[in-house]
Parts: sequence; structure tokens; C-alpha cells
Amino acid sequence: MLFNVNIDHVATLRQARGGIEPSVLEAALIVEKCKCDAITVHLREDRRHIQDADLFAIKKSVNIPINLEMALSEEIIEIALKLKPQQITIVPERREELTTEGGFDIVKYFDKATSMLSVFKGTGILLSLFIDPDKDQISASKSAGVEIIEIHTGEYSNASTTETINHELNRIEVASKMGKELGLQVAAGHGLNYINIASIMKISEIEELNIGHSIISRSIFVGLENAVLEMKKLVEV
Ligand code: PXP
Repeated sequence: MLFNVNIDHVATLRQARGGIEPSVLEAALIVEKCKCDAITVHLREDRRHIQDADLFAIKKSVNIPINLEMALSEEIIEIALKLKPQQITIVPERREELTTEGGFDIVKYFDKATSMLSVFKGTGILLSLFIDPDKDQISASKSAGVEIIEIHTGEYSNASTTETINHELNRIEVASKMGKELGLQVAAGHGLNYINIASIMKISEIEELNIGHSIISRSIFVGLENAVLEMKKLVEV
């Protein structure tokens, strides 16, 4: 299992005061020290947490891959082409949302997305699409030529009854199997925590996890290294 740690909320805390602490670079170095597979960061158009300079500082000093989450915007694409992260994950973005609220709709935006993504051809950057666990989205992702689909686990994470939890898990499982059958690498993320990760780990088709909020939250009490290692233990296969 590839375990990527999203450190956006280290930057959220820093931006609350506009100073330099806590250091996003220091967080990235701790994730590297814990032998995780990648640093995941979302450069939002409104720059509410991660800033452009964070990306280049991480690229310069950290040796594990960067998975850059980004909206399909000309401005951010230009930055991604300069940064050359190992992977980009396309997410939808609305300025007023608290967090990424749904998957990218590759069915609806197929022509625009494939045209915009074509600039990454030949760069060696892996392309991932963050999509809802829906068969039409998976088929369209395959047609779009991306290597990876990241299944949005938000509905599962927010579900509160056994019935809805099982329903959402089933959707994720069916979607993961379909993605794998089509030859796509399957990732998952959003809202995953130290408890709800157990059921996700039973879905063998999922090969990559991107987890942030729960780890950064726990780090307040046990430190980032411990918080990362505790999750790492749960996702090791
Ligand atoms: N994957 C994607 C595509 C995301 O947009 C996010 C949130 O930035 C995550 C994973 C991580 O979600 P969480 O912070 O809830 O663990």
C-alpha cells in the first residue's frame, strides 16, 4: 500500500497567524523520516493553506515524491509544470467550500479536461483523477488516459448508520474492482481516520491512500511523527 500524507493543515495553522510556524517543510521532512511514500499537498486557487513557496521548498529538500492536488486551472497547471511533482491529482474546487466536497466530474468535463491535461504528456508526471465511486466516472477516467483514479471516500467517512456505511463501502469496493479491471491504479482518500481505515484496508484493489486531516489533528496530542507512524501501522499490508 502506498501511504501518502497530506500536510495541508499544517499550513492552515500557519496561515491562521500569517507567520512562519508551524513549518510545512519540517512536517514534510518528518513524513519522509517516517518512510511514507509521498507528501500530498493541495495548492488551492485561493491559497488558503499551502503557498507556492511551500511546494518549491519541499521539492528542493525532500526526497520522497510529491502528489500535488490541484484544480484544472491554467494558473495552477503552469505552476505544476514548473514544479514537476511525481504525481498530480485533479480535484474540483469551489472557493466557498470547506474542503473538497465531491469528485471531479470527468464525464461532464471530459473534452475540456483531456485537452488541458494533454500538456502533461511526455513530462513523466503521473495523472490521477479524484472521482466519486461511480462506474461512468471510472470509464471516462480510463478514456481520459490517466494512470490513477482516487476514489472519494468522503460519503463513507460521513456515513453514520451501519446501513449507510455498508452501502458506501460497497460502492467503493465495486468502483475499486472496476478501476483495477480496466488497468487503472486505484487510490482512495478523504475523511479517512484511525478507525474507519480498517474497512478500507479490506479492499485489496486499493493501492494508494492520501490521508491528512485525521493525522494532523492527532499530531496536536502525540506529535506528528507518532501520528504518522500510528497510521502507517494501520495501513501496512
Ligand atoms: N485526497 C484528496 C483528493 C483530497 O482533496 C484530500 C483533502 O485535501 C484528501 C485526499 C485528504 O483528505 P483528509 O484531509 O480528509 O484526510
